[in-house]
Amino acid sequence: MAGEERGRGVPGIGRREMLGATGVAVCGVALAGCGASDGSAKAVVPPGIKGKVIAQKADVPVGGGKVIQEWKIVITQPTSGVFKAFTAKCPHRGCAVGRPEDGVMTCPCHGSEFAADSGKCLKGPAQGALAEFPLKVEGDGIIIL
Ligand code: FES
Repeated sequence: MAGEERGRGVPGIGRREMLGATGVAVCGVALAGCGASDGSAKAVVPPGIKGKVIAQKADVPVGGGKVIQEWKIVITQPTSGVFKAFTAKCPHRGCAVGRPEDGVMTCPCHGSEFAADSGKCLKGPAQGALAEFPLKVEGDGIIIL
């Protein structure tokens, strides 16, 4: 009997436990050809928006954000006066992520989560971060550079 168990795991620990927390997707397990090893994504600014005011500061609440569907960009304001711009296109399969709530942007398609202050992937199935776009604030306007 004991011979049959050899090489099949640890006695008293089930297969699921051996495999880890099944059903909990994590990010950052980079697959070959799926982006930078640090999980970051390369920013490709959508054509036609460089240098344009794409949102007003007042449209972006502190701790929240605004998704601009036309260009699939999400603007966040993680802390007062600090604005960030990310692609709203989920790196998993391209659905548009939702506006941030409690510092997290969630993709409605398969549940990936991203940090509103960095775009970092917090929960898979996405394997990488949302690409960040450089921006500047001029007066009341937020401009993609
Ligand atoms: Fe976003 Fe799948 S497309 S999690």
